[in-house]
Amino acid sequence: MNGKKVLLGITGGIAAYKSAELCRLLIKSGADVRVVMSAGAKAFMQPLTFQALTGHEVRDSLLDERAESGMGHIELARWADIIVVAPATANFIAHLAHGFAEDLLTTLCLATPAPIAVAPAMNQQMWSKKITQKNVQALADISDCQPVLVWGPDEGSQACGDVGPGRMLEPADIFARIKALFSADAMDASGKSEALPLAGKRVLITAGPTRESLDPVRYISNHSSGKMGFAIAAEAVSMGAAVTLVSGPVSLPTPSGVTRVDVSSAQQMYEAVLANVPGMDVFVASAAVADYRPEQIASQKIKKSNEGMVIHLIRNPDIVATVAGLTKRPFTVGFAAETNDVLSYAKGKLQKKGLDLIIANDVSRSDIGFNSDHNDVTAIWSDGEQSLGMANKSVVAQRILRIITEHLSKLSSPVAAGENLNNKGYSESDDE
Ligand code: PMT
Repeated sequence: MNGKKVLLGITGGIAAYKSAELCRLLIKSGADVRVVMSAGAKAFMQPLTFQALTGHEVRDSLLDERAESGMGHIELARWADIIVVAPATANFIAHLAHGFAEDLLTTLCLATPAPIAVAPAMNQQMWSKKITQKNVQALADISDCQPVLVWGPDEGSQACGDVGPGRMLEPADIFARIKALFSADAMDASGKSEALPLAGKRVLITAGPTRESLDPVRYISNHSSGKMGFAIAAEAVSMGAAVTLVSGPVSLPTPSGVTRVDVSSAQQMYEAVLANVPGMDVFVASAAVADYRPEQIASQKIKKSNEGMVIHLIRNPDIVATVAGLTKRPFTVGFAAETNDVLSYAKGKLQKKGLDLIIANDVSRSDIGFNSDHNDVTAIWSDGEQSLGMANKSVVAQRILRIITEHLSKLSSPVAAGENLNNKGYSESDDE
């Protein structure tokens, strides 16, 4: 991180005390750090703390003539290699999402060409409010070149005594993400600066089961835990993507940096996907969506009788096929959960649903697939396939995303359009 210029914005949340540790980690790694504090932040932390850590005066006002005569705010915005706002309050996020420039920090965010990352920190009720989630999603659109990166929040106990999502990520986690961004830049020895593989890309993912109600008490569902889809969401964020995750009922924490939309039935998942798919670059349908639902949902609990029972089922909308059929569609990836003839059934679904890629997994095996921590998948596309091997779902997710990234770069580079992707089998040594 030597010489990297980090502008650390601090807004008014109790998590501001953690920003001193983040600042220390950055300085220790050789970065040059300048701090900008909002009025609220100064109610929690003394500017002198950060001046002592960074060796630079803390900036806190847009109209500070003396400070402006030193390094003006536009110069400061240009100085930064990255702006990190940690903690980022609901109020700051709302202002940033709507293009306000009423104080120094929001003005710098509008004026800078550098990437911006925010680490949200707020009460769990505030984080879960629809308007906050809308503002967070809007951050992906505030600039043409790249979305604002949203790192966190974490879930857990909060200073206010509540428990839930809204805790700022730990300083070490935020520091690791800053390093990853810069190391991605340094990654290419030929000096070609490379952003993270999915930087600037927006990815929509479905995960988990759906629940198809029979009556107010009973439903039809399946064994999907959501682990595969959540792993893909987490890895996509670490590869620089802006990720929206539409999840059926699961008991998994939201991966940090992911915008989550919770649904229950296939119809609700269908509606949530169609509401979020505009502007997406990639859609990954890992959810185990019920193909059918009861034609009638009883308004009262169905009473048992001595006779058998017939339940008439009707088809649910096919979500991934609908997305694949959109005129302006994202790169569309499906999964095939098969118990026999896995590859041939998967190839059939690739064609029938009009997908760009399908990930085949044999769900008859007890050691992979539903609710397992591992999977063993084969990626299949129109003119090639690649076994990605058996691995932990996080590693499988990385391998799937690497295939997707390869396809995206081929789609955007006319040269390689006709080439087959390398379709040798996967070997561990391929992992970085
Ligand atoms: O969640 P885990 O416990 O980690 O388990 C992971 C998994 C086994 C669920 C996952 O790896 C997987 O295989 N997901 C797809 C399960 C499924 O529904 O497969 P399918 O072959 O029935 O559906 C084919 C594709 O169409 C899937 O992408 C599915 O999301 C999609 N689909 C299906 C029905 C429907 N109505 N709409 C859809 O979009």
